[in-house]
Amino acid sequence: MTDLKTQYLGLLLKNPIVASASPLTGTIAGLLSLEEAGAAAVVLPSLFEEQVEHESRTLEEAFGGHHIVGTEMHEGFFPSQAGHISITQDYVDLLATAKRELSIPVFASLNGYSDGGWTHFAELLEDAGADGIELNVYHIAADLDATGLEVEDRYLRLVEQVRKTVAIPLAVKIGPFFSSPGNMARRLIAEGAESLVLFNRFYQPDIDLETLSVVPALELSSPVEMRLVLRWMAILRGRIEADLAATTGVHHAEDVVKLILAGADVVMMTSALLQRGPHHLTTVLEGVHRWFNEREYVSSDQARGSMSQESVPDPAAFERSNYMKTLSALNRQH
Ligand SMILES: Cc1cc2nc3c(=O)[nH]c(=O)nc-3n(C[C@H](O)[C@H](O)[C@H](O)COP(=O)(O)O)c2cc1C
Repeated sequence: MTDLKTQYLGLLLKNPIVASASPLTGTIAGLLSLEEAGAAAVVLPSLFEEQVEHESRTLEEAFGGHHIVGTEMHEGFFPSQAGHISITQDYVDLLATAKRELSIPVFASLNGYSDGGWTHFAELLEDAGADGIELNVYHIAADLDATGLEVEDRYLRLVEQVRKTVAIPLAVKIGPFFSSPGNMARRLIAEGAESLVLFNRFYQPDIDLETLSVVPALELSSPVEMRLVLRWMAILRGRIEADLAATTGVHHAEDVVKLILAGADVVMMTSALLQRGPHHLTTVLEGVHRWFNEREYVSSDQARGSMSQESVPDPAAFERSNYMKTLSALNRQH
């Protein structure tokens, strides 16, 4: 039987499949069903910068302008406002309960873009027992005056700030839209990211032609979206000093295997589990075991990165030259 144990963020996971942040990981029942299905670790849904900021402003007003974010938040009181239980307190409770009830690692997730007081919340997540923090930097660079470098610097400052705040492992989840994703990866790692989670999926707004309004369109991923991640896993494997987590488009066992061969340390799933239910993870895990067993791999570590850009005979296959080949093959067919 192939050994699927995987090192991720300094922890030994029983296999490489992690349930990424989603409503499924937002309840204890969901988390338990994911653990039962075989997930090696879970990432809680994100706590958003806007939520933390909003609540600390409300508290500040309630305490006569006395600043609450930071050390005092750390003292662990979240008075409920007129019976309203705070979102931040709920989050800490979910995390603490998950840590009590589950035996697999539980990562907390913060989602934001600005550096500022809100990042101190990471400290509370550390105190509540998080095995690590996944920082999801979600930003649409819609300001035409901001240069690429300025946008990137804001990412780096945010990572630096969270890194200074906590001692637990830090993963950074980013989208693919950088001029030089590999260079950005290196700079994020230099600021303290110990894992890169590639790639965040941005939800694109749509226009409702009946009501003529802009509507949020949340569609689940399809397996073909995994290819962008596959390429970057392969390019980065062996060239950066951080773990690599793959997210987006992982639906089947074959997707997991391909991403491991390309170089992923762990592979994350959400859409397929929302579509088919947490038990789908068991099917995927069995398929991964089967693939490796049939080919007599001793461990998944033995296979990891064997199809990375550094390892394949034709490294250009992951780059532009492949584009020409693909187009000419298509032209010949038509
Ligand atoms: C309904 C829904 C909620 C999500 N919530 C979060 C979240 O709170 N934080 C986060 O980092 N990612 C969140 N994600 C993104 C997923 O964790 C995952 O990265 C993304 O869906 C791509 O993976 P997939 O193709 O397996 O779905 C969410 C995705 C979905 C579909």
